[in-house]
Amino acid sequence: MNDVASKAKVTVTMDGSNRSAELPLITGTIGPAVADIRKLYADLGIFTYDPGYGGTAACESKITYIDGDQGVLLYRGYPIEQLAEKSTFLEVAYLLLNGELPTAAERTEFDRGVMHHTMLHEQLRRFYDGFRRDAHPMAVMCGVVGALSAFYHDSLDINDPEVRRISAFRLIAKVPTIAAWAYKYSIGQPFMYPRNDLGYAANFLYMMNAVPTVPWQDNEILTRAMDRILILHADHEQNASTSTVRLAGSTGANPFACIAAGIASLWGPAHGGANEAVLKMLAEIGHVKNIPDFLARVKGKDGHARLMGFGHRVYKNYDPRAKIMQQTCHEVLAELGIQDDPLLDLAQELERIALSDDYFVSRKLYPNVDFYSGIILKAMGFPTSMFTVLFAVARTVGWISQWREMIEDPSQRIGRPRQIYTGAAQRDYIPAERR
Ligand code: CMC
Repeated sequence: MNDVASKAKVTVTMDGSNRSAELPLITGTIGPAVADIRKLYADLGIFTYDPGYGGTAACESKITYIDGDQGVLLYRGYPIEQLAEKSTFLEVAYLLLNGELPTAAERTEFDRGVMHHTMLHEQLRRFYDGFRRDAHPMAVMCGVVGALSAFYHDSLDINDPEVRRISAFRLIAKVPTIAAWAYKYSIGQPFMYPRNDLGYAANFLYMMNAVPTVPWQDNEILTRAMDRILILHADHEQNASTSTVRLAGSTGANPFACIAAGIASLWGPAHGGANEAVLKMLAEIGHVKNIPDFLARVKGKDGHARLMGFGHRVYKNYDPRAKIMQQTCHEVLAELGIQDDPLLDLAQELERIALSDDYFVSRKLYPNVDFYSGIILKAMGFPTSMFTVLFAVARTVGWISQWREMIEDPSQRIGRPRQIYTGAAQRDYIPAERR
């Protein structure tokens, strides 16, 4: 936090009284100043009200920065465009966890450390049999990642930095295995054990797509695309699922259970579930000629239809991840020899029309990361239900980095919001015969 700026303040005065409170203004490295309201209740006896937390900073963080007006996303200060082009997912994972890019030696040790943990306990394998084959893979993810806490609880002292480090490794390494097995279970194919000789993204594609009977052929372009998709989803500051992980973790809970809570939060269509929802929406629209009718429904006040993959709480400009996604989409389709993808044509036309429509322009609604990711993943052979799972695989790195930062923050305390109570005032119990 910035000392100089912390001398600045805002004064809140209660109407109709001579009581006021001085709120110190805090600034970070970049971004707007933040009024410190911690003493407001003690000084004036009032809370602040901010449903959806649109104007509330709940923590201090050094990990990710977003400038929503400019469409800027930085991981530890590095622009997402540079990382997507030049880095790899495991290097980004190191950066998010440790704050700096690794040297070659640090990178080798980190990769070996993570990949060493890719296998699941054999007993965990049996968990899959308890699920229906048609279970949504996000349900399986919540269950199996949560179950990891049963395997690593007794030995887990979250106050020990080494334990935190190993827990981060275990999560980052095992989540692709859990995800791929959720998919294999749903289609009745044998589980493929991880191969540590492949890289992180290549191993994930292998576990998803390989079968024991046919030699596996790695595709460099698709592996690179997968790696880039993982980088783009790796962290996004205090979004709903990350805040869920932090809130759950603020109680001192088991980190594997906290990540399972994050997965549950990610699942919703307003958050990570949007990539799946985009494809369903495109299928529903069906043809370019139906776009005007669909947009009329979205803009109408009567329904709940939204243009999925559009809009963001923070970005009031083009989501920088969406731009890279669009470019990756073209690369993947070219590699797969897909000359004309009706879905891509439909999405591009939908984007073009929406971006020239006053409803979307005036509300600053632009494509977000989920708008194009589904088209790429579908082309790569991922079923729609796995899209959000893939998001969860990537975001695990962000969640565990944020969890670690929170545990290591000396000012950290249990997250406990307050409320405006609008229920009944105190009243006396009435026996059933008199109601
Ligand atoms: N389609 C149509 N109208 C929209 C949309 C949309 N996608 N998004 C926002 N609006 C309208 C909304 O109806 C409201 O209009 P009005 O002022 O007339 O009432 C205005 O824009 C502001 O919307 P809001 O709901 O107050 O905005 P929010 O910050 O609470 O919601 C959001 C952000 C992402 C939940 C929302 O834009 C949305 O539902 N988008 C579609 C789902 C989606 O793509 N989610 C992925 C987000 S990026 C990846 C991730 O975080 O996981």
